[in-house]
Amino acid sequence: MKIGIPAERQARENRVAATPESVKKLITQGHTVIVEKGAGTKASFLDEAYEAAGAILKDAADAYSADIVLKVQAPMAEEFELIRAESVILGMLDPFDHVTAARIAASGATGFSLELAPRTSRAQSLDVLSSQSNIAGYKAMMIASNLYQRFVPMLMTAAGTVKAARVLVLGAGVAGLQAIATAKRLGAVVEASDVRPAVKEQIESLGAKFLDVPFETDEEREAAEGMGGYARPMPATWVKRQAELVHTRAAQADIVITTALIPGRPAPTLLSVETIKAMKPGSIVVDLAAGRGAEHEGRRGGNCPLTCEHEVVEHFGVKLVGFSNLASMVATDASSLYARNLLEFIKLITNSGGQLEINLEDDIVSATLLCQSGQLNKKFN
Ligand code: NAI
Repeated sequence: MKIGIPAERQARENRVAATPESVKKLITQGHTVIVEKGAGTKASFLDEAYEAAGAILKDAADAYSADIVLKVQAPMAEEFELIRAESVILGMLDPFDHVTAARIAASGATGFSLELAPRTSRAQSLDVLSSQSNIAGYKAMMIASNLYQRFVPMLMTAAGTVKAARVLVLGAGVAGLQAIATAKRLGAVVEASDVRPAVKEQIESLGAKFLDVPFETDEEREAAEGMGGYARPMPATWVKRQAELVHTRAAQADIVITTALIPGRPAPTLLSVETIKAMKPGSIVVDLAAGRGAEHEGRRGGNCPLTCEHEVVEHFGVKLVGFSNLASMVATDASSLYARNLLEFIKLITNSGGQLEINLEDDIVSATLLCQSGQLNKKFN
């Protein structure tokens, strides 16, 4: 089969869906690989490296002429005219963006949105959310330490002792756990909270303190169990108690990293304007939910309403970081891991002869199907 890799065209996107390493593997499996010229440059994978791996370097239209097209993000307006109805497109196609999802469906191509893979052991090797969130969690702490005008570790010097930074992580999923691990490596004192009580052990095993908001009703307990490994919105009673605890702990913290997301819904508000006001001047907030939170003053915030997507803003002496594509800032490793996720997925939709065989009986294949034969998957109508 022909496999095409167009360059990503979204602003601030440095990643690429295949690396020379993954191209080599696809060619060993008998496929022909067409890479758009320059597709890997921003991730430090040069055209010569793809060529050396056996790829054919051409333009976007050639990459889109393939049987399988590998993307990082959903195609942009100018790419739609290149999509062929016979193609299969794999990527993080943002299934909850109804306009783009409908356009991909209308192209007649078959689309698989890898963010929809179930949270099961079998799906782990192709779990793009995990591979990219892990990087985002790491980068969040690196950005915070860069902007923070003090040391992160405790230091004893001849000129006096410097206290370790206090880091608060809200939402301890894949990104949050990596932010905790990175903060600990830098020598911070770390505490973290999540709705899912199952993460207590994971937080503690990384040497951080778990901030518990005990459940008081069955409704709270049931909501906290989440669905398919993901969180669900919590009842107002619990949210109020959590907000009080977060307010007190954030006021003591130097760095707050928020990562709380609920698939298909606005991210919950965890840091109110009042809480930011109560924080120490010079504190840093890195809000990984930037642009995905509730509406505030005509735009979408993140886990804090004051967060501005793509920007660093300052309110009440606190810097709020709203970069929403942190994985793209570590583009080389992010692309390598993502490309390996795609290789695993391709195995599921091809047979032993290397030909396309879409088996919708397979739970991963059916869960990730965004559209087929011009029809959007019923889940997204
Ligand atoms: P996510 O990115 O959707 O959310 C981040 C975190 O925010 C989650 O831990 C969630 O519980 C938390 N959160 C949501 N609302 C909150 C609130 N109001 N207050 C505090 N925290 C809140 O989740 P992510 O990181 O993609 O994965 C969640 C979990 O799924 C992982 O920790 C893991 O247990 C499981 N998982 C399983 C996999 C597998 O078995 N293949 C792969 C990846 C994750």
